[in-house]
Amino acid sequence: MGRVWIRGGRVIDPASGRDEIADVLLEDGRVEAIGLDLSASDAETLDAEGCWVTPGFIDLHAHLREPGQEYKEDLGSGGRAGAAGGFTGLCCMANTEPVNDDPAVTDYILDRARQDCPVHIYAVAAATKGLLGEVMTEMSALVEAGAVAFSDDGRTIMDSDMQRRVLEYSKLVSKPVMVHAEDLTLVRQGVVNEGAVSTRLGLPGNPAVAETVHVARDIQLAELTGAHLHVGHVSTAGAVVLIRQARERGVHVTAEVTPHHLTLTDEATLGFDTNTKMAPPLRGEADVDGCIEGLADGTLDAIATDHAPHAVYEKEVEFTEAPPGVLGFETAYPTVMELVRKDRISPIGLIASLTSNPARVFDLPGGRLTRGAPGDVTVLDPERKWIYDPAKGYSKSRNSPWAGQEMLGRPIATFVDGALVYHVDRGVIVP
Ligand code: DOR
Repeated sequence: MGRVWIRGGRVIDPASGRDEIADVLLEDGRVEAIGLDLSASDAETLDAEGCWVTPGFIDLHAHLREPGQEYKEDLGSGGRAGAAGGFTGLCCMANTEPVNDDPAVTDYILDRARQDCPVHIYAVAAATKGLLGEVMTEMSALVEAGAVAFSDDGRTIMDSDMQRRVLEYSKLVSKPVMVHAEDLTLVRQGVVNEGAVSTRLGLPGNPAVAETVHVARDIQLAELTGAHLHVGHVSTAGAVVLIRQARERGVHVTAEVTPHHLTLTDEATLGFDTNTKMAPPLRGEADVDGCIEGLADGTLDAIATDHAPHAVYEKEVEFTEAPPGVLGFETAYPTVMELVRKDRISPIGLIASLTSNPARVFDLPGGRLTRGAPGDVTVLDPERKWIYDPAKGYSKSRNSPWAGQEMLGRPIATFVDGALVYHVDRGVIVP
């Protein structure tokens, strides 16, 4: 395997605290050296002047739809979209068809990913069979097949005793349980945030308390069991407060927030665009603010996309009928860069939430640029302007709330195991 010399960029590596102009040398699929004026005459060279050079992004929360819904996405197209977004590792959710509740499905996903996917794929297995919340999955067999965490994401485990058992058993396999925290008895038919916007639109509201009630429950169950609770897609300031307090008293709880919950409010839905519909819904200004504060102070560990592709015809229906979910990979970096520009989070804090923090939360390789680490690297141009057109992107689907918008900031190159898998001018590079 060859050598790659990434020259003269601003190397931001939160794991080692490095933020300085330097070269990065990759060799045999790993980080070989970081420093100034490295000499690597026989290496493939990338001029990174004016760019940020960071560990490859790791997404804790993605729906790649394979097996079963390949018309929306598959491991190849999802992986290519991930690479174009600067991601080198994606954790795929279990709400496939069939559900990833059996080691045979986990094996299938990981095998397919090895054949057709340019980035690392990690499987999150279901916590209960069929995501029905009734019978637990066989966690140790799933971990043996490669599962890195458990989640019924997309569905809430409403039965609190079942949630307690899931957390208890997860301790035996030392894996986190990611929860989709929405109390369905409070959500009812809600499709947008309950408040002025739902009233103006005349659409049923989904209240913030539907999230906080469940986060409070799950924190108490994590406290009782001592398990590692990971709260998926936090959308409310109230949940951030609960997680912060729980951390302070030593509960093992981690959490993530999506780019859309950090940068859009429910006002984006005023035009009835079904590409602004997701679960949990976009919230009001105060909730967005609470999430940004939670990210900045480390209460929310990671930015995770909740990339959730749906076909055009599925979204071109009444708002109440459309499936929830939006694309996430290719718009993640430019959208969250807005927080850096507004001075709400530091560059190193932002990069930590996309790299070292998610690696720590799910105990995954990568997320750092130190000698011997995997050669997973992302090169970002924070000043690059471009128009996002989902039809020109790599996902099979188009459901983005940012379609047609001007973006500032773009990943320009992505390396996985020391190999260039994406370059902004060349596209995804298929080996
Ligand atoms: O908006 C969402 N879409 N939220 C989820 O939790 C599930 C996801 C999907 O699978 O489409």
